[in-house]
Amino acid sequence: MTVQPTNLAGLDLRAEIDRLRKERNAVILAHYYQKPELQDLADFVGDSLELSRKAAETDAEVIAFCGVKFMADTAKILSPDKIVVLPDMEAGCSLEDSCPPEKFAAFRKAHPDHIALTYINCSTEVKALSDVIVTSSSAETILQQIPESQPIIFGPDRHLGGYLNRKFKRDMLLWPGVCIVHEAFSETELLKLRAQHPDAPIAAHPECPPHIVDHADYVGSTSGILQFAKTMPGDTLIVATEPHIIHQMERAIPEKTFIGAPGADGNCNCNICPYMALNTMEKLYVALRDLEPRIEIDEPLRLAAKKSLDKMLEMASGTIGKGDLGAR
Ligand code: 13P
Ligand code: SF4
Repeated sequence: MTVQPTNLAGLDLRAEIDRLRKERNAVILAHYYQKPELQDLADFVGDSLELSRKAAETDAEVIAFCGVKFMADTAKILSPDKIVVLPDMEAGCSLEDSCPPEKFAAFRKAHPDHIALTYINCSTEVKALSDVIVTSSSAETILQQIPESQPIIFGPDRHLGGYLNRKFKRDMLLWPGVCIVHEAFSETELLKLRAQHPDAPIAAHPECPPHIVDHADYVGSTSGILQFAKTMPGDTLIVATEPHIIHQMERAIPEKTFIGAPGADGNCNCNICPYMALNTMEKLYVALRDLEPRIEIDEPLRLAAKKSLDKMLEMASGTIGKGDLGAR
């Protein structure tokens, strides 16, 4: 359900959000792909792993999640006693959509000797059908703890799974899902851009297809890419992930230049995540005011999904991801 914010004209939304955040004892969590104004008012900005950790440990009564639904669901799974609101319930994910639980259950049944290592970008039902969840910043650490002799199903992102297979010489069976955002980068346009900036390294998210990842000097999660931007030599970086992360780079390292990798038309606008973009200041204000739209999960399903998430948090300890504090 999309809440239509009405009659908000004349409101100082930032001041109202700050007032409600205090009144509700709420914490506002934001992913790096959110609009700059949402990143800037958040109590915490991070990647999927950092946001899960934050959701599990906060003592706020309300979590307002500026991200997509699987992220808010994860917060509710880990913090069932808290109210979790998502500004727009339509903020989904193409990876989650690609993996219906019934089909995933049938796939698992067809491969009874395989364990399911599953990317966090999936539904609560698919998490409940999985053995261990991974994020892009924890996947490598976790995979290396699983014996090479153990057959594995990896879903739903075939590009992240394929990247892990190539890097660690594994043979995981891949679910055929993709992120529509990372799928849209153009190799031809990327090479044209690199020719214009021959000294600039390329950083890519592992959700990108191999024809993009193969040109990258660094491959990693959003927090990994941000860390690379801070530590890389040189002053220009080509960024092959959702371009809103550049906001954090420009805040952290204003003296460097960050260029979004282009899509097929040479214009990187097609790489803005349409789901993340549904969240706005207006909808966040309404969510804090009404405590709706609210995430609700049946307890047996939550407990089943929590097992694979707990396993991730246990196996991922030590993985990068401390997140960045949003400006207050
Ligand atoms: P990370 O922030 O964990 O790298 O994930 C990226 C993503 O696709 C979020 O939807
Ligand atoms: Fe899903 Fe891709 Fe958007 Fe992330 S960027 S939420 S993986 S569609």
